[in-house]
Amino acid sequence: MKGARVAVIEDRDLGGVCLNRGCIPSKALIASAAQYKNMKEAEHFGIHLPGAPVYDWMAMRARKDKIVSTLVGGIGQLFKSHGVVHYQGFGKITGPNFVTVIDEHGAETKLKADYIIIATGSRAVNLPAFPIDGKRILTSDHLLELPNLPKSLLIIGAGVIGCEWAFMLSMLDVQVHVVEMLDHALPLEDVNTSTLIEREMKKLKIDLHVKTKVEAITPGPEGISAKLSNGKVIEANQALVAVGRSFNTEEIGLEDVGVEKNKNGSIKTGADMRTNVKNVYAIGDVRGEILLAYTAVHDGSVAVDNCLGGKVEKNYLGVPSVIFTHPEVASVGLTEAKAAVDHTVAIGKFPLRALGKAQAENEIAGEVKVIGDKKTDKLLGVHVVGIHATEIIHVAALAINQGLTVTQLGSLIFGHPVISESIMEAAHDLHGSAVHLAKKRT
Ligand code: NAI
Repeated sequence: MKGARVAVIEDRDLGGVCLNRGCIPSKALIASAAQYKNMKEAEHFGIHLPGAPVYDWMAMRARKDKIVSTLVGGIGQLFKSHGVVHYQGFGKITGPNFVTVIDEHGAETKLKADYIIIATGSRAVNLPAFPIDGKRILTSDHLLELPNLPKSLLIIGAGVIGCEWAFMLSMLDVQVHVVEMLDHALPLEDVNTSTLIEREMKKLKIDLHVKTKVEAITPGPEGISAKLSNGKVIEANQALVAVGRSFNTEEIGLEDVGVEKNKNGSIKTGADMRTNVKNVYAIGDVRGEILLAYTAVHDGSVAVDNCLGGKVEKNYLGVPSVIFTHPEVASVGLTEAKAAVDHTVAIGKFPLRALGKAQAENEIAGEVKVIGDKKTDKLLGVHVVGIHATEIIHVAALAINQGLTVTQLGSLIFGHPVISESIMEAAHDLHGSAVHLAKKRT
């Protein structure tokens, strides 16, 4: 599009983890699980079913595979239409201007380029305490391809992957145990969000243990047995290890050309995405800064502009976090704890149950929390738990990206009845002017 001749080297399917083994397949399955849950609640909406709904995991998987293959095919079409050449194979940098592609038969093709952009991503971390075997001890990659769902599953780590799978599988009637070593589920989110999501886990009978480490797992013929740091033992059919990611930086020639790494093994770059080696850039998870597909896209655009002579730096101001639990979680900006370090904070909240649209959809769990600076009124953070949280957060993301005040966010006239009104209401609450909340006693 910008006039460069481009080749992309990929040794698996186009689209990487997000499209093939991450965001898209998991969201396809979450949509199936949510439909099943809705059907179980059909009576509430005045619909009588002839019997209890029954789900077919293999059919859900087939639907997921179809969505993935359609989108993978779409990338191939886009490459063709934009003249991007796809080399199937493993890429190894052999010089600041050279990459060798090694195909599945070991045949090599040497490519010469003015610029090289490394976008090799990350994979589930493999720790000796949790020997992943793909049978009893799994990563989320294995879960996506299971022939049958287990009756019970232990999830190690209540981060993003752990929580998304916990809700999805619990909605599909799997007995889920989750063990998290930090104080809360979703420990990087605002504590209000974590508390609300823990309440929802309880409603679904998810067995959550926080401030607890899984010390070791023993696989057996019938299942696994996990020893926890509090002395308890959890038995389940299978275990999902969701304790973070490691970076795909091995065997791609970094050492040969002297590309510098960070302590955690990710590639070191500047805000312009350039590594210490002239002409070599890195983008996305492999940089280790934020492990999200959508910031990787931004990184890519920065790197390309700089390759083509620009002087551009990343701008992560207002990057939202979107988590597909049930209800969903989304946030942007600072948590209250982080905001309180440099600001005197003011807080506004609005519960979803007070919204007409949430009542109409029978999805009243959750709350919006708005954090502002008490002195300047600057909007510092917005945290949403509730239906469509991952969609409505973007109005707040734009507000933070543009440096708006809480008053400016609350002054927008929102459509009615919509879920995003809750953001406006929480902004009003921060100033004590939310007319749809009972007056607070002083
Ligand atoms: P994570 O870093 O989000 O969570 C890992 C959790 O495991 C942490 O809370 C940690 O305290 C806990 N943990 C580590 N060792 C433990 C032990 N021995 N016992 C108990 N708990 C332990 O990593 P996760 O969930 O694997 O996700 C990887 C990346 O993928 C994240 O950066 C995430 O942002 C990204 N992702 C994003 C999604 C989204 O945007 N919706 C969806 C899925 C993944």
